[in-house]
Amino acid sequence: MSNHIFIKKKIKSFNKKINISSDKSISIRSILLASQAVGISKISNLLESEDVINALKTIKKLGISYTKRKGVYYIEGFGLNGFNIKKNITIDAGNSGTLARLILGLLTKSKFKVKLIGDKSLSRRDFSRVIKPLRLFGANIKSKNGKLPIEILGSNFLRPVKYYESIGSAQVKSCILLSALNTPGTTIINSKKSRNHTELMLKFLKYPIKINKNINSDKILIKGLNQYRSFNYSVPGDISSASFFIVLTLLSKKSELIIKNVNINKSRTGIVTILNKMGGNIKFRNKKLYNGEEVADIYVKSTENLNSINCPPKLNSSAIDEFLIIFLVAAKAKGISKFKNLGEMNKKESKRLDLGVNFLKLIGIKVERFGDNIKIHGNPNLNLTKSFEMKNFLKDHRIFFLSCIAALTLGGNWKINDKKSANTSFPSFLKTLKKIGGQIN
Ligand code: S3P
Repeated sequence: MSNHIFIKKKIKSFNKKINISSDKSISIRSILLASQAVGISKISNLLESEDVINALKTIKKLGISYTKRKGVYYIEGFGLNGFNIKKNITIDAGNSGTLARLILGLLTKSKFKVKLIGDKSLSRRDFSRVIKPLRLFGANIKSKNGKLPIEILGSNFLRPVKYYESIGSAQVKSCILLSALNTPGTTIINSKKSRNHTELMLKFLKYPIKINKNINSDKILIKGLNQYRSFNYSVPGDISSASFFIVLTLLSKKSELIIKNVNINKSRTGIVTILNKMGGNIKFRNKKLYNGEEVADIYVKSTENLNSINCPPKLNSSAIDEFLIIFLVAAKAKGISKFKNLGEMNKKESKRLDLGVNFLKLIGIKVERFGDNIKIHGNPNLNLTKSFEMKNFLKDHRIFFLSCIAALTLGGNWKINDKKSANTSFPSFLKTLKKIGGQIN
């Protein structure tokens, strides 16, 4: 089967209700925490994407079995450090930075050596950010230049750490939290704000964790060596996947969309704040608290007059995976939009800041770049007629999604490569686009 698609027509106006794929961050966390619980956990609505399947394969390789019945995953844990391996093994995290960084946290007590590898994209990413705190716990880690492959051998003499997490990375924070589970005493993390699903899930499990919130950071105190019971969990929709449909609707003519049952945790909804500041019409309806996470239906309506934004950097972490698609809105907005301190974007599945800038230039938008800051000169009359081809984006699902939304809202004759990259986070992406009228060949 070919690995590219063609889009040659803008989407016609639509008025639909859709479900979005389940949250990737929460799916991976629910698997990893179920692997450490005592008993059989039941997880429904698990995202069945490559990153999540790699998490399932990882716990299986570590001796934790699971089955799937009637859409529900049953994962049998044997408590903290309950992995059951009898020899050195290799784990392949594929494309997933979250899986790779979080699993290292659960291996700080491993009796056998575990070698962690990943695909080409993951192998260029920085792991020194997790190696440093894990060494403080006492784990033995070998890696060349802080990159994969990494070898980890646990220690029987783990000690709690006091760590200042200054990047604002949920993956680093969560890796430390998971290592703290196996460590005696209280680990203390002062963490710059980042998504807080791990903390919320531990709270939901009644694990002894305390969170003191400050304006820009959280101080988290977590006690190690407390067993917790298996649990039932249902994963809500992913706002990062929903964001492409939010922008599709905003930039289409006379359209409305309801996206059902989406996680609207404040550490994830930066995109909605930013787009509404630009004049967007996005609302949360039927808000409810579910398993400790806030969930709602997202209502969005097309917006003719979008304005530029001077984006407050304090929103960066809650929109970190969404800036590519936000840039597309800035390209259609009136005026010059400014975004600052976006260096972390280049540390994702691909160098997203560089690629985002190149993408905007490809579609004829003026962009000024000053290090990690950019200015986008919007053009509300932007209407594409030429041919475009997107290739070489290192299996970055979000660049693939961005290209599809640009093609469907701005016009032009597009060939978009690597459609398989959608499987990383949102296997039903093209099906959902077609459901609301997107013509894709
Ligand atoms: C994630 C955290 C973010 C995000 C990534 C998923 C998570 O990365 O970009 O897609 O599930 O913890 P950082 O924590 O490195 O910023």
